[in-house]
Amino acid sequence: MSKVLETAIEASKRAAEVLTHYYTRLKETEIELKAKNDYVTEADKRSEMIIIKTIQESFPQHSIIAEESGLHSGNEWKWYIDPLDGTKNFIHGLPIFCISIGIEYRGELVATVINAPVLGEIFTAEKGSGAYCNGKRIKVSDRQFEEAVVATGFPFRGKDLLDKYLLCFREVFLEVSGVRRCGSAALDLAYTAKGVFDGFWEMSLHPWDIAAGVLLIEEAGGKVSDFNGRKEYLKSGNVIGASRNTYDKLFEIVNKYLGD
Ligand code: IPD
Ligand code: CA
Ligand code: CA
Repeated sequence: MSKVLETAIEASKRAAEVLTHYYTRLKETEIELKAKNDYVTEADKRSEMIIIKTIQESFPQHSIIAEESGLHSGNEWKWYIDPLDGTKNFIHGLPIFCISIGIEYRGELVATVINAPVLGEIFTAEKGSGAYCNGKRIKVSDRQFEEAVVATGFPFRGKDLLDKYLLCFREVFLEVSGVRRCGSAALDLAYTAKGVFDGFWEMSLHPWDIAAGVLLIEEAGGKVSDFNGRKEYLKSGNVIGASRNTYDKLFEIVNKYLGD
């Protein structure tokens, strides 16, 4: 295992301790509204601080893009950090939340950790070395589209696109076996890599929601693209990740309603 991945795992474990400390014990005064429907808590901030501190102890030159503190510029290594993905679940006491860390070198995703502390699952991947959950190799599903369970997120940041999204949702919903909306995009991607879900799509995300999960799905044998079939998901925030058996049909529908 590379030193970069080891450090990312260590950072996620320290952050997990912080999140576990605050989970179900948050005070009203520790919750702030960032934008409409978008919350940040003391737990998000402290988790991010410990992750950044851990990275900088080993790699002081690396660049970091973190949700709550923005860009810390450095060299061609870039860490995308979501210190708490699923903040709304966390605030409400729903254990579906995680820490998501995706690492890029010269524009290519090379290592990933998604740590879901209450669920007891740590997902890891390195470019070319496969994807793992708690150290065990994971693979995307091989179910057919009609039997698929796909996950999605609602476009609460792009409500102007709600009607188009709902048409897309309707068609997917009518064709697959089930649709889930769990409230953590990073975990939706991780569960797609693990074959729990067969696919996932969501629009208007941020790079820290997506980066880690993309590499997990690719290393688990799945496919990832934006809504136009390109690899611009970190820029647009629009992502489809799926098993090979689900990707084509899911892409066809999402592209029809939400592509350029
Ligand atoms: C959110 C979660 C959610 C998704 C939102 C994200 P946050 O991240 O991933 O599932 O629907 O678009 O912003 O705010 O909890 O880090
Ligand atoms: Ca997030
Ligand atoms: Ca977050």
